[in-house]
Parts: sequence; C-alpha cells; structure tokens
Amino acid sequence: MHFIPEKLDDYVVAHSENEPELLQQLTRETFRKILQPRMSSGPYQGRVLSMISKLINPKYILEIGTFTGYSTLCLAEGLQQNGTVDTIDINEELFDFQRVFFDKSQYGTQIVQHLGNALEVIPELNKTFDLVFIDADKDNYVNYFNLIIDKLNPGGIILSDNVLWSGKVIETLNPKDKMTTAVLEYNTLLKEDKRVETVVLPIRDGLTISRSI
Ligand SMILES: C[S@@+](CC[C@H](N)C(=O)[O-])C[C@H]1O[C@@H](n2cnc3c(N)ncnc32)[C@H](O)[C@@H]1O
Repeated sequence: MHFIPEKLDDYVVAHSENEPELLQQLTRETFRKILQPRMSSGPYQGRVLSMISKLINPKYILEIGTFTGYSTLCLAEGLQQNGTVDTIDINEELFDFQRVFFDKSQYGTQIVQHLGNALEVIPELNKTFDLVFIDADKDNYVNYFNLIIDKLNPGGIILSDNVLWSGKVIETLNPKDKMTTAVLEYNTLLKEDKRVETVVLPIRDGLTISRSI
C-alpha cells in the first residue's frame, strides 16, 4: 500500500537504510515456500521497525503475529544485550521456518517462539514489556490491547500494523465488513484511551505508535 505518490515513495526507500542480507534471504524463502508471502513486513517497514526498536532499546519485546519472522528480526535489532523477544503465532507450519532464520541471526537465543492463539498465550506470559508489536488478526486488536495494556512498562510502546486498512478506514462502511469495523473500533480506542498517547503514521498500510502514560 502506497499512500504517497510512487515516485516519492521510491525516493523515500532509496534514501533509507538497505535491507540486511539475511532478511533478503528470508524474503526470498518466504516467497518460495510460504502461502500469502505478502503478509511479511517489507524492507522499508522493516527498517522503520528496526529504527523504532533501536530508539527504544527495549529489554522485553512482545510480538503478536510472527509469520515467517521478518518483523521479529527487525525488532530484535534494537534489543538490549540480555533482552528477549517473545513472539506468538497460531500457525504451526511456520514454526520451523522461523527458527531456521532466528538461528541464522545473532538473536537466536534471545527469541522465544510461542505457538498458539495469542488470546490464550498472552495471559500466560509472566513478564512486562517495553515494546509490543501487534500484527495478527485485526478483529482481535481491541482484545490484544486489553490484554497487554497492564503488561506494558511505564513509557512502554505499542506498535499496531495495518491501521489504515488499505484506506478503507475513510470509505463508506459496509456494516458486513467485519475487518474494517474492527480496525475503526481499534483506532478509536487508541485515540480515546487515557492510558496511552497515540500517533498514526501513514507508513505502508498504516502503523500506529502508542506510548503508555
Ligand atoms: C500479517 S502476519 C504477521 C507478519 C509479521 N509480523 C511480519 O511482519 O513479518 C499475521 C500473522 O498472525 C498470525 N495469527 C492470526 N491470528 C492469530 C492468533 N489469534 N494468534 C496468534 N497468531 C495469529 C497468522 O498466522 C500470521 O502468521
């Protein structure tokens, strides 16, 4: 999804950090072996996630929606030396693929994979987090927020992906469109909930940064 003219978007990408070699390899393998490869964060959003993580320098990261591990590795780039990423995905077919790439990276021992429904896994995590990335089923974003808000450290950050939902958030809503309804509800919650301050960034499909206050 490009919300700015394509030429300008090309310029933005050309003047941003290059994608590391391992992530190029991960993308090639994702396209060769995995269904719906476009679910992966692309190179530009990946560099944005990496940069945000480096600015925060988190000790504990939680990711909801691992897919093939692209965003996991981008977020791990900002980890403190003894920090960890807990990453959750419901699709067991992705588990071994993720591990191969995690272990090829320098963050292998710092990344903990959780296989299962995030709604059930999150309550079992006895940790609080400095950075949470929500990038799974949109109709549960509100539920994920409610599960993680009390697990955020003071000043902790929630990044939420796909919040502009291909621009559908400003189109006339078809009441049968459950996904768009869910994204609209989530965006309103982030704007109104007094426990966070929020800015929406028009990056790719929309990325929101919410900071706990
Ligand atoms: C858009 S992909 C994640 C992409 C990944 N964050 C990246 O940028 O490379 C969404 C993932 O969420 C997972 N997912 C969907 N519903 C889930 C649930 N209830 N619990 C855990 N994972 C879920 C899917 O299996 C899929 O791999």
